[in-house]
Amino acid sequence: FAQVKPVSIADLEKIALEKLPRNVRAYYEGGAEDEITLKENISSLQRYRVVPRYLVDVGPDKLDVRSRAIWGKKQNVPFAIAPSAFHRLAGYDGELDVARAAAKRGISMGLSSSATSELEDVISAGRFASSQVTTDRQQQAGGSGHDLADSDWWQQLYVSNIRSDTEDFIHRSEKAGYTALLITVDRPYLGRRHSYLREKFELPPHLKRTSGTKMAQDPSMHWDELIPWLRSITEMKILLKGILHPEDAALAIQHGLDGVVVSNHGGRQLDGAPATIDALPGIADVIQGRIPIFFDGGVRKGIDVFRALALGADMVLLGRAVLWGLAAGGEEGVGLALDIIAEEFRLVMALAGVTDVTQIRRSTLALV
Ligand code: FNR
Repeated sequence: FAQVKPVSIADLEKIALEKLPRNVRAYYEGGAEDEITLKENISSLQRYRVVPRYLVDVGPDKLDVRSRAIWGKKQNVPFAIAPSAFHRLAGYDGELDVARAAAKRGISMGLSSSATSELEDVISAGRFASSQVTTDRQQQAGGSGHDLADSDWWQQLYVSNIRSDTEDFIHRSEKAGYTALLITVDRPYLGRRHSYLREKFELPPHLKRTSGTKMAQDPSMHWDELIPWLRSITEMKILLKGILHPEDAALAIQHGLDGVVVSNHGGRQLDGAPATIDALPGIADVIQGRIPIFFDGGVRKGIDVFRALALGADMVLLGRAVLWGLAAGGEEGVGLALDIIAEEFRLVMALAGVTDVTQIRRSTLALV
């Protein structure tokens, strides 16, 4: 799909931006207001230097790139797909292509409730694609002697004020095979995105609005009412997506949540909120390893995954990096984006002198 082979997410982004129509480009790329938070997600990550250690045995059979155990299971890589809306705007088969590329690699996927494909179809496309993979699963897992684990499927949603709609959607997701809910909490109102205000973004008529798309976050929901209600209707793991304040992390522990996603919605909500990498250490200090911490915002390279793990994340989610792959080349483009980040991450580990993710610590980093 490209004349010159893309070797970085930046290359895929360039191809994607050239191909996308102007309004879709603005929708994918943009953030709230002056886009300070959007830009800082990236620039704050880049401030951290990885201080390497040498004369450690980093032979190929020694490197284990799997994640820390999350609810008892190690993921093949410590990153997954962030839920983002309307993948078919990028063309191709949208969410289905993302699911196929992820599943073939045993990478987990968060699906947005504002998807342009039905949630059941996303899981089946992924599972079918992974069943077609015939290469040796050990070899695929990077020769570290571990079998490749299957992808997990996580459903993102906004809890609507019409709770029965939300309940139906949760039951449907659970039945389809999703094992965790990412409850987005940072969108009680839509952020002021300047491109929207100038020209309201509308989904083109040929794209299907799935039922989840009609759910907007109920701005009145609150801790005491929300969590017990969710627990009463589902057995799925429940994570809150959009946590930035250490006191909210403490409340998440107090309310018995299964995890948090440190996120500022890719800079699309509160402009002036901290870069996620700057919020992460304070949250990790509160959580103290008791529940998994997912992290997203500005991750474009393997070294960014490493930086987030060093500051306390267990799992890193890729938002725009995946969208650029999808827009550049459908399933193949998403696969390339995932492979690039995986290869970069493995190399950073080797060059930094760490052989498994538990050795990636705050002391591995220097702030400049
Ligand atoms: C998002 N994000 C998002 N989050 C969510 O909870 N539900 C959603 O429907 C969407 N939709 C969405 C659309 C687009 C185009 C983008 C770019 C983002 C936020 C997403 O899950 C994630 O938090 C950010 O994308 C992470 O930042 P990066 O990786 O894009 O910098």
